[in-house]
Amino acid sequence: MRDTEQRAAEAYKENFGAEPDAVVSAPGRINLIGEHTDYNDGHVLPCAVERRVAVAIGRGNNELHSADFDEKQPLNGEKEGGWQDYPRGVAWAVKQAGYETGGINATFAGDVPLGSGLSSSAAIEAATILALDTLFGLGIGRKEMASLCMKAENEFVGVQSGIMDQYASLLCKEGNALLVDCRSLEEEHVPLDLESAGLALLVCDTRVERELGDTGYNDRQETTARAARKLGLEALRDASEDDLERLSDDELKRTRHVVTEQRRVMQAVEALKNEDFEMFGKLLYESHASLREDYEVSTPELDTFVEASSEAGALGAKVTGAGWGGCAIALVSAGEADRLADDTRQRFTERDFGEPVFYQFVPAAGAEVVA
Ligand code: GLA
Repeated sequence: MRDTEQRAAEAYKENFGAEPDAVVSAPGRINLIGEHTDYNDGHVLPCAVERRVAVAIGRGNNELHSADFDEKQPLNGEKEGGWQDYPRGVAWAVKQAGYETGGINATFAGDVPLGSGLSSSAAIEAATILALDTLFGLGIGRKEMASLCMKAENEFVGVQSGIMDQYASLLCKEGNALLVDCRSLEEEHVPLDLESAGLALLVCDTRVERELGDTGYNDRQETTARAARKLGLEALRDASEDDLERLSDDELKRTRHVVTEQRRVMQAVEALKNEDFEMFGKLLYESHASLREDYEVSTPELDTFVEASSEAGALGAKVTGAGWGGCAIALVSAGEADRLADDTRQRFTERDFGEPVFYQFVPAAGAEVVA
C-alpha cells in the first residue's frame, strides 16, 4: 500500500474501531494539452500523477472522516463549501442513477495539493465512487463512474466542468497519457516515456490557490456554449476557422482558442507517436499563448514560469488545467529541470510573487482498489 492508503486505513481503524472493508485510491492529474476543450465536446490529453486521495470504507452510519483535516462530517447534507461536498455529491449522483447502497463509514487521506489545478476534487470523487462500487458490488463501469462524478461536480458542487479530470483519475494507466474524445467518451492510451528521451516534466505550482467556482470558469463555459448556438453547432468541437468570421469580441476569442486547441491536441498526439518531442513542445507553447491571449486564464506567475522555461531552452511549457493560478508544466531536458526551478524561484522573488513549489512527475496509474 502507498503511504496515503495506509494512512486512510489506519485512521479508519482508530476512528471507527474496526478494519475497513475496502481501501481504494485515485490520483490527481496534469493535462498535457487540450485545455477547456472537454466541455466543448473536444479532445484532451491528460496523465495521472503519483499524488492520490485514498479512501478506507466500511458499512456504517454515514459518517465521513478526513484524516488530513481531523474532522468528521455526515454523508447526508447539502453543499457546504468543504471537502465533504465531493463525497456527498458522488453519493447523491450514484443514488440518482438508481444504484442501491447501504450506510457507510469512510476515512479520506490524500496528498494531492488542494486548489492547485492538479484535480484534488476529481481525485476525491473518483476515490469515493470506486469505494462505493467496491463495497456494494455495484458493477458501475469506469466511464459511467466518470460521468457520475462529473454530474456530482456540475449539479451538486455547481462547477460546470467537463469530464477530463474524473475520466483521467479513473482511466489513466501508468506510463501513458490518455487521449479522450469528450463527445464519444472513447479513449486511447498514448505511451509517454520521457525518461528514455532524456526529458522531464517539471510542474510549477505557483501556490496561487483557487476554487473553480470562484473563477471565471462557468463564464467561459457559458460563452463557448452561446458561441456554439450562434453558429448553429452542437458544440464548438464542430467549429472551423471559417466560422470565426461570424463571431466577435469574447465569443470570437474563446472560440478561436477552442478551435486551435482542438487542432493542437490531435497534432500533439501525432508528435508523441512519432517521438517528435520538439513538435510536441512547440504545441505546448502555442497552447499557452492561446490560453493567455484568447481564453484569458493565465496569471503573471504562470506566464513567468513559461517565460523562464522558454529562455532556458525548454521544449515547451504551458498552464495545466483551468488556469487562474495553480500549476504550469514544462517539458525540459532531465538535466536542466533543477536549474529551471531555481531560475523560476529567483524570478518569483524579484517580482514579489509567493514561493512556488516544484514537482517532477511521470505518468501514474489511475484509480485502484488496493485492499
Ligand atoms: C478544470 C476542469 C476540466 C477542464 C480543465 C481545463 O480542470 O475541471 O473539466 O475543463 O479545467 O482544461
